[in-house]
Parts: sequence; structure tokens; C-alpha cells
Amino acid sequence: ASKSQAPSQSVGPGYRPDTQKPTATVSTEIPHQNVHILEQTPQLIALLTMIRDKNTGRADFIFYSNRIIRLLVEEGLNHLPVVEHTITTPVGRSYSGVKFEGKICGVSIMRAGESMEQALRECCRSVRIGKILIQRDEETAKPKLYYDKLPEDIADRWVLLLDPMLATGGSALMAVDVLISKGVPEDHILFLNLIASPEGAKSFAERVPKVRVVTAFVDQGLDEKNYIVPGLGDFGDRFYTM
Ligand code: URA
Repeated sequence: ASKSQAPSQSVGPGYRPDTQKPTATVSTEIPHQNVHILEQTPQLIALLTMIRDKNTGRADFIFYSNRIIRLLVEEGLNHLPVVEHTITTPVGRSYSGVKFEGKICGVSIMRAGESMEQALRECCRSVRIGKILIQRDEETAKPKLYYDKLPEDIADRWVLLLDPMLATGGSALMAVDVLISKGVPEDHILFLNLIASPEGAKSFAERVPKVRVVTAFVDQGLDEKNYIVPGLGDFGDRFYTM
């Protein structure tokens, strides 16, 4: 079990003086270039407050989680390559913009990662989605790969790996190993995550430094059962069955 100091910060737009802004616990900062933490806006903190609350029921948990996941997907897409693309507008002028380049797919780590598929589909029409099932082996207490079903041409795609909770990092690292074994270049993997523990984020970032991580929040630590603290409990249970 570990715990870092929880950082407190006034939350709100820069033009407002700190005295007029509420204080909240914001994400821990971590010194890894490949980990991108969403901006700690009042909106994001309010959404996280909703889903962390043990008194939030399932319908609200799903609704507010989906909103955060949507923010993660939108930010994640900013890390994919675009190329220059000039178009003509209906008034006959040209506009020099960009367009997405390359094919993508999602890969969810079952079961909790499946909760992130809908937001990905909303942003990327008819996106292909693969699945990986990793569970803790009761005998060794280590993560074990039980099942994977991935697009055949996954080696030619940018992969958005989906798992809302990064606790020890064991499952996410195993999932990255599976993707690499299928020929996906490490730097074509983007890991989208809601809440990470500092130790999970650190070991993941150090083991696979070319994988980009986009997370909403790095929390304080892990408890003796490897739950993230303060965390939100078991994400899969709260999203699917509670
Ligand atoms: N998975 C969860 O759902 N919650 C945690 O706190 C850690 C892993």
C-alpha cells in the first residue's frame, strides 16, 4: 500500500482570482513525457466527483463516466497523425485544414474497458474493436491472458487501448505485449484511461515508453487490495452490475 501527497488547487478559469474559486484535489503530476493528463477543469473535477461518490447510483455512474470517457477519446484523437488537407467552401474560398491519416481500431480490456467502446464509436464511425480478456491467476496472483480477438490487419492500424482503471499496470502491460506480438509498433498504441495510480502509471510509462497514455487523473495510490485510492471502487461492478 502506498500514498502520495494529494495536491490541492483552486479550480476555475485563469481570469478569475483564486479567492473566487473553490479548492479541490487535482491530479498528481508525474514526470513521464508519454503520460498526458487531461486539463483539471471545473467540468472534469465535477464529473469525477460524481463517479467517485459511493452514493452515486448506477444510472448516474454510467452517464457521468460516459462524459469523461468522451473527453478522453476526443483528447486521444489529438495524438493521432493528421496531414494537410485543403478544401473549397460553399462560397468558393479555399480553407487549408487537416485530415486524419491512417487506420485506427479500438481494443478493450474486458470487462471494464468495454464501457469505453461506445464513446469511441460515437467519435469514429464504424470503428473496428478488438477484445482482450486478462484476469488474475488465482494461483500465481499474476495477470493471465485468457482470450483475445483482434482485427486481422491490426499491425497496420493505430490502436486505442481501452481500460478505465490503471492500478498496478499488470493487465495493461500484458495487453500491450499482446498487441506488440501481433506486429503493432509500440508507438502506434494509445492507452486511454480514466484513473491511474502513480505506481501503475510509472511502471507502465517506464516499461513501454513509446506508448502514449491519456488519462483523466493520477490518484494518490493503491490500498492493500490494489484498489486505487481514493479511487471509485470497482469500475466494472459499478458500470455493469451494481
Ligand atoms: N480496478 C477497479 O475497478 N478499481 C480499482 O480501484 C482498481 C482496479
